[in-house]
Amino acid sequence: MAQPKFTGKVEWPVTIELNKGLEGAITCESTIGYVDGQKGWLVYRGYNIFDLAKHSNFEETAYLLIYGKLPTKKELDEFCSRLVSYRNIPRAVIDALKLLPKDSHPMGALEVGVSALGACDEEAEPTVKKMFSGEPDQISEGIKASYKMGEKLTAQMATIAGAWARIRGGKEPVDPDSSLNHTANFLYMMTGEKPDETLEKVMDVSLILHADHGMNNSTFTCMVVASTLSDLYSSITAGIASLKGPLHGGANERALADVLSIKDEAGAVEFVKDSIAKKKKLMGFGHRVYKAYDPRAKVLGEYAQEITEKKGVGHLYKIANTIEKEVIKAYGEKGIFPNVDFYSGTIYYALGIDVPMFTPIFAVSRVAGWVARVLEYLPQNRIFRPRAVYVGPLEADYVPIDKR
Ligand SMILES: CC(C)(COP(=O)(O)OP(=O)(O)OC[C@H]1O[C@@H](n2cnc3c(N)ncnc32)[C@H](O)[C@@H]1OP(=O)(O)O)[C@@H](O)C(=O)NCCC(=O)NCCS
Repeated sequence: MAQPKFTGKVEWPVTIELNKGLEGAITCESTIGYVDGQKGWLVYRGYNIFDLAKHSNFEETAYLLIYGKLPTKKELDEFCSRLVSYRNIPRAVIDALKLLPKDSHPMGALEVGVSALGACDEEAEPTVKKMFSGEPDQISEGIKASYKMGEKLTAQMATIAGAWARIRGGKEPVDPDSSLNHTANFLYMMTGEKPDETLEKVMDVSLILHADHGMNNSTFTCMVVASTLSDLYSSITAGIASLKGPLHGGANERALADVLSIKDEAGAVEFVKDSIAKKKKLMGFGHRVYKAYDPRAKVLGEYAQEITEKKGVGHLYKIANTIEKEVIKAYGEKGIFPNVDFYSGTIYYALGIDVPMFTPIFAVSRVAGWVARVLEYLPQNRIFRPRAVYVGPLEADYVPIDKR
């Protein structure tokens, strides 16, 4: 059959504007969180991050993000009890993790773990069918089941990360301890030791600060997958894959490596000068949205000073703080300030946490935001499907392989 010849030029039905990296693109309406990059504000459901870091805890913040309001005492107790009841993960998930090489990237292990969780959850596929049925009562049941899965994922991300921290060190995973809160139990599952008050408090604040951050890359990734009506486990696995990248969740390891490679404050000044001269990006600085000081870095910077001094590594804070001052001197006018990753690495290091576990800790927190955003979007779901501007030829003649 004769094929029509494609001739002419690429034509678009609408006026198009290409913004690299989808800068400024709007995906949906949301009431979950707000980032004002010019003022340096971060808000979850109307509450500013400084208040939450000071007064809340991870469980309450996760409830706030997912359910849209601060819980009453009873609601919070019930939510915490459900999270505790979901902490144990199926044996098959632990076995899958044990089959991986011990030097696998921990975020890869997390992807395997969450994917395996989905394979083991008998409700995952029936929920997909309900969501796809088109029948309002089935969809409403599907959404209810998705909330349950969201709570399970919030609890179980910590169990998987804790298990992997043990397995990669050649140790047996530690069973969750139901007498501990989410953060203390997470630390216990990672280290095998119940944390002291300082460690628990700093980690809890860090989990609050990382729980949601607007339409960031991993959140958008989760939503893109969920918008096909794939199951929540697949959507969250995709979020982990996105967060693994050094331009997103992996920057704190690199920021810490820079701090550790420097001897003293004079060395920090030299380091920044050298990076600027070589046009190297400074890890833990800059942000697509913040053109002012990232409020999360403000909170973590204060903790970094306190914790490094307490743990006898105060020189690390001094080096980091000197880097910060020099970078702001050079780039502040351009809107480049420390981001959340700049001080978190130094804090975790001072607390004795293994460096490869830094990004999984981010995922243990961010899962709450991912779940909240996907669940908010599902009732108004429309599949995400952007386009690319085709700039290639239209009139190429097919040449048989022996004539090329
Ligand atoms: C976060 C990040 C990926 C945002 O990227 P983006 O919005 O695409 O911004 P760009 O990379 O286009 O940067 C815009 C400008 O600021 C500069 N810039 C951005 N981050 C910088 C950094 N960390 N160090 C030095 N310069 C930086 C760029 O060189 C660019 O300058 P130019 O306009 O003169 O070319 C980017 O700032 C970065 O790579 N930071 C380091 C990694 C990091 O800390 N990630 C964690 C984010 S929470």
